[in-house]
Amino acid sequence: MWKFLQLALFLFCRIKEKNKLDFKTVIEPFRIKSIETIKFTTRSQRILAIEAAGYNLFQVKAEDVLIDLLSDSGTGAMSTEQWAGMMRGDESYAGAKSFYRFEESVREVTGYKHILPAHQGRAAERTLFKCTINHGDIVPNNTNFTTTRGQIELRGAKAFDLPISEGTKPSVIHPFKGNIDLEKLRKLLSGNRSKVPLVMVTITNNSLGGQPVSMANIRSTREICREFNVPLFLDACRFAENAWFIKMREEGYSDKSPSEIAKEFFSYCDGCTMSAKKDGMVNIGGFIALNDDQLAVKCKNELIINEGFPTYGGLAGYDLEALAVGIKEALDEDYLRYRIKSMAYFGEKLISAGIPIVQPTGGHGIFIDAGKMMSHLPAEEYPAFSLALALYIEGGVRSIGSCTQFSKGHDSYGHAPELELVRLAFPRRVYTQSHVDYLSEVIIYVNLIRKQIAGMKIQPGYEHPGILAGRFEPIGGKLIRD
Ligand code: F0G
Repeated sequence: MWKFLQLALFLFCRIKEKNKLDFKTVIEPFRIKSIETIKFTTRSQRILAIEAAGYNLFQVKAEDVLIDLLSDSGTGAMSTEQWAGMMRGDESYAGAKSFYRFEESVREVTGYKHILPAHQGRAAERTLFKCTINHGDIVPNNTNFTTTRGQIELRGAKAFDLPISEGTKPSVIHPFKGNIDLEKLRKLLSGNRSKVPLVMVTITNNSLGGQPVSMANIRSTREICREFNVPLFLDACRFAENAWFIKMREEGYSDKSPSEIAKEFFSYCDGCTMSAKKDGMVNIGGFIALNDDQLAVKCKNELIINEGFPTYGGLAGYDLEALAVGIKEALDEDYLRYRIKSMAYFGEKLISAGIPIVQPTGGHGIFIDAGKMMSHLPAEEYPAFSLALALYIEGGVRSIGSCTQFSKGHDSYGHAPELELVRLAFPRRVYTQSHVDYLSEVIIYVNLIRKQIAGMKIQPGYEHPGILAGRFEPIGGKLIRD
């Protein structure tokens, strides 16, 4: 009888638990303990601000932005545990306790033997590439992020993008649009083996929409790399988001935890570079993690010259503490569910209003297909750039509009087809659902007036500084015509 009652109670609890999980609304899995006020500006104040900034959103003061989606990098909110960890920061020059805590945590997540801190992702890339890449080499990747490409080209080598073709078509639905094209990789290695010092896979694929790479794709890449005896490295900035997509979309992974999934993909590779400003949940930090003893020694020597002693690598002890805690928080299921669902929620609102975006929605942001939405403007008039400016003027929203024209005429060898996209990248644990609702309203309104938005041109004398420091002006003098 007692056993029967126990069983009935157990089943009742299970049913109740199930009902609890059936509620549709995915809430922010945190309470807000400390707030940062955002300033409301009027439309005319924003017009003045953008004129003063030479119509370049990178030049606008952050305090003049209402919702800042310029980047998800280093812009997140830290947890109470991270702040508590920072108080433990050991600032000894060498062998600080904070380093060992950081090392243990990153080793636990990645499974790699050597863990080398760096001040951010591009420093990790520079260090690894200086020790592996020679003039004339080729580095294949699903899609090289700008800094990865830059660091490779600085070594006199070629960065080669090999995304699957679905990855370059915004409206095509595919569960793993970030995958590397295995056939193209094999072909490239067959013809150029001696020139390829390493293969990289970027998870998620930022440049093409924060799209995930499947476990099967990483495993097959590993097999190809083994066949040609080439090391495989992950650009792991958004590894936790990628792990969540594998859990949700790939057969055989729904019962595994994000941390088990991450361990598996790390195990297929020889190491990784990481900008911890993303899924490390910190405002600054990064690392290289790898298994090869000799390469680790070379990288440590390089770190000493360019970053700092290998037990701090350009970071303070307290930064290492925040990273040690943050990288584990990024793998929390409640957090990842909320993070990825928030993007999907935003994406669904835009799709149902007929706004063309990269589909399915990725991990760290929404990418508007400005080539399509702003089809009245030719690429020479920077349609994505114009759209990003209009979002700022109308709603105080800051995003990045890509400029496919900027790479035109440069050495475009190995570039993935470039798309006119506006990226709205979400800082982690910063904005709430009402911010997303507001953003949707702004974008839907701007879509209605899109034909009134003018194209842009570079101001004379500013042809060289490019997208970060350049000055621009609307063709015809006014960005949004009456
Ligand atoms: N790799 C990828 C895929 C990235 O997205 C970034 C940075 C880096 C490397 C470089 O890391 O900034 O710490 O030096 N992406 C930021 C962004 C800047 O906004 O997407 P970092």
